[in-house]
Amino acid sequence: MMLKIAIAGTGWFADKHASLLAAREDAQVVAFLGSSLPKAEKIAQKFAGAQAFDEIEQMLDTVKPDAVYISVPPMAHGRIEDAIVERNIPFLIEKPIGLDMETVNRIQDQVTTRNIITSVGYHIRYTDTVQKAKELLETRKVGMAVGSWLGDMPGVHWWRKQSGSGGQFIEQTTHIVDLVRYLVGEVEEVYAVYAQQHMHTKHDGVDVADVGAVTLKLAGGAVASITNTCMLPFGHRSGLELFTDKGVLEIQQSRYLKNHEGSQTTEYKNLLNPYEIETDAFLHAIKTGDRSRILTDYADAAVTLRITLAALESSRSGMPVKLR
Ligand SMILES: NC(=O)c1ccc[n+]([C@@H]2O[C@H](COP(=O)([O-])OP(=O)(O)OC[C@H]3O[C@@H](n4cnc5c(N)ncnc54)[C@H](O)[C@@H]3O)[C@@H](O)[C@H]2O)c1
Repeated sequence: MMLKIAIAGTGWFADKHASLLAAREDAQVVAFLGSSLPKAEKIAQKFAGAQAFDEIEQMLDTVKPDAVYISVPPMAHGRIEDAIVERNIPFLIEKPIGLDMETVNRIQDQVTTRNIITSVGYHIRYTDTVQKAKELLETRKVGMAVGSWLGDMPGVHWWRKQSGSGGQFIEQTTHIVDLVRYLVGEVEEVYAVYAQQHMHTKHDGVDVADVGAVTLKLAGGAVASITNTCMLPFGHRSGLELFTDKGVLEIQQSRYLKNHEGSQTTEYKNLLNPYEIETDAFLHAIKTGDRSRILTDYADAAVTLRITLAALESSRSGMPVKLR
């Protein structure tokens, strides 16, 4: 069965998804949607048989895709998804899935009513090390999670604007919040302190915070602390440490899991490509109807977005935000 896939977005991650799809025998990349036609044409040229569009409705009605991959910046969500769900088309969407709950709730209502297959690009869940951590946690009690995303500022213009990306915690560190939810539990309360320390003096038009510390109260009593910065001149590290009754699990997102048990440390390396597994799970669901291999869907990602939006709200008000 050959699935026709259309892609909304023309940036580096749209290209990454398209390349993974083009390497498969059961999928063909048939179209790209760009914010302008020349951008869409440029990337479409790289994939044999792909057409270029600058209007979502026209793309969907012309190529009639079996699924759409949505890989656009956070501020561009809304209209694209409305057109896709109206036509009952399954979609895989990159994180974060939006910048406001009103838009996301509207889309979620349609996804639920129409029972549409969705998947969200929280690819770290699909790493073999996170799966190993999940297995080890079955017999452990987590008391505390300490996470971080410490690095440089992505070069794309929209990332530097609050109205474009939502800021680092919403755009990037969302992966760590998602991991806390996946491995430890749901978030009940959020308190955040953000500041602009350096990047707004280095580049014009930067209005996102470049340092931040967020405290999360989790269901069941565990606590989490997540810090992030984008003011470094290089990527430093990102990951999550889980403090448990049997020792410490240390996850460095794209590299390894270390299981520290006193004098003994066992290291597990990531051996598989999580993006391949993510796409495989999504296409399997479309072909068979079996969604069990999809590790996070639109409704689940909406919960993560709500937490990261609450952190922004707390950083502005100076008050904790209760979620439940
Ligand atoms: N899961 C991951 O590992 C991962 C990694 C990188 C990026 N991402 C996510 O992918 C998304 C895209 O990031 P990127 O790095 O490719 O950004 P990018 O800036 O390289 O590309 C974004 C593209 O979207 C296009 N675009 C903007 N508005 C549009 C619209 N309304 N319709 C169609 N196209 C539009 C832009 O022209 C641009 O080509 C972001 O949400 C980002 O967080 C995820």
